[in-house]
Amino acid sequence: MTDTLPPVLSTARLRLRPFTYDDVASLFRVFSDEQVVRFWSVGAWTELAQAEKMIEEALLAYREGGLSRYAIALAETDELIGICNLRGFFEQNRRCELGYALGSAHWGRGYAFEALEALLGHAFSALDMNRIEADIDPRNDASARLLERLGFRQEGYMPERWFVHGEYADTAFYGLLRRYWDERSLSRSSAAAAG
Ligand SMILES: CC(C)(COP(=O)(O)OP(=O)(O)OC[C@H]1O[C@@H](n2cnc3c(N)ncnc32)[C@H](O)[C@@H]1OP(=O)(O)O)[C@@H](O)C(=O)NCCC(=O)NCCS
Repeated sequence: MTDTLPPVLSTARLRLRPFTYDDVASLFRVFSDEQVVRFWSVGAWTELAQAEKMIEEALLAYREGGLSRYAIALAETDELIGICNLRGFFEQNRRCELGYALGSAHWGRGYAFEALEALLGHAFSALDMNRIEADIDPRNDASARLLERLGFRQEGYMPERWFVHGEYADTAFYGLLRRYWDERSLSRSSAAAAG
């Protein structure tokens, strides 16, 4: 199985790495928090078995494809603080969907941005994607800010697309094209060169 694991992606403060069963407790901590699942498609977890199931799904997908799920871990301790994944791969059109969540104790420090910048770089280079999509609840301001900082553009709005947490919820639909990503990388490197 080892040769089908996704590569570890390292950033200044983080390691994006494949899941292991040692992540059960940390993963449960993330998704048993009402604040984290407020705009997620399922309710807060109540049992460790739900964390085990997510890990099993990730491990199976490392062998069979269809989902590339990473643990976002602190580089110093290797503790899992969140997850990010690419799924819904459509090879012919070179597109897929992005998902992410961070434990609430780690919000507001730029960790999600740092992790997703590495994941998206990997998706556009090694995986040769042309387009990455994200579907968020329009009330999820932190998520919208994050996507926009990464260069995503809002492309659509779909009312009452989900029924979760006892209510209908809308979708704000975002897309990031490879050419937006390349333009952004170019302007960031020119800004850095200009000092
Ligand atoms: C969406 C989510 C990942 C965003 O997390 P986040 O910590 O706000 O995102 P970032 O990593 O981009 O951090 C940005 C914030 O950190 C601050 N920050 C502090 N140090 C920073 C640094 N070194 N670099 C960048 N930002 C930094 C920024 O000012 C910014 O704050 P602001 O949003 O108030 O302006 C988080 O809210 C979450 O997990 N929510 C629950 C799950 C969820 O809704 N997922 C999306 C469903 S589709």
